[in-house]
Amino acid sequence: MRKKVIAGNWKMNKDVFETADLINSLKSFLPNSEIEVIVCPPYTSLVIAQQLLKGTQIHLGAQDVSVRDDGAYTGEVSIKMLKSVGCDYVIVGHSERRQYFHESNELINQKAKKILASGMKPIICVGETLDEREKGITDQVITAQVKGVLAGFTSADLAKTIIAYEPVWAIGTGKTATPQQADDVHQLIRKLTGQLFSWNDAEKFVIQYGGSVKPENAKELLHMPNIDGALVGGACLKAESFIAIIDGAKS
Ligand code: 13P
Repeated sequence: MRKKVIAGNWKMNKDVFETADLINSLKSFLPNSEIEVIVCPPYTSLVIAQQLLKGTQIHLGAQDVSVRDDGAYTGEVSIKMLKSVGCDYVIVGHSERRQYFHESNELINQKAKKILASGMKPIICVGETLDEREKGITDQVITAQVKGVLAGFTSADLAKTIIAYEPVWAIGTGKTATPQQADDVHQLIRKLTGQLFSWNDAEKFVIQYGGSVKPENAKELLHMPNIDGALVGGACLKAESFIAIIDGAKS
């Protein structure tokens, strides 16, 4: 039985004061449960989030990291820095980073390996654009992305990795993939990991769905056979809706 993992990607939202408000609301509502919960605030909010999350079961994650270890890379944030503020997870390869910052599968793969080497866990995003879906090449796109981002991984690496399937056309658009559309791609990803690693590894592998997940659609999505969690954008910015999504993951 795979554990459900619900992560909130705050993107470029919430200053430190707003972060404190949101974390405090989440803390007062969140029940202890069998569901793993992760919040990924912006870099500037990680320290306050870490302080406020102490003693809770909520994990802290970052939204990206530099592939460089240290040095003259203005504006970058290193793996060591994220470790030092208590991050357990790092999102890499989000479609917004692929689109606006031209991140390639190769770079994402390098970042993910470094995250694993540090003892943190990567949440690696993949997903097709609307154009690619309409051309009928979703499977090819996802296959190339998954093979690229997992290149050189061992079974042990895979066990600490999450893939988030986020169809680009469903992000921030209010358009959600239907549960069946999402599950079909999740099944493809699971099959691929079975071929690349082993069926045993694939069975245990956590695959999240992301793209306009909200309280109204969470339950149905999260009960599909191959959907093991959600990477939530807009709806994680309010405690009530994020908690409602977490509730939707309960068996
Ligand atoms: P929305 O939930 O706002 O569509 O964003 C999804 C996402 O990109 C999470 O990483």
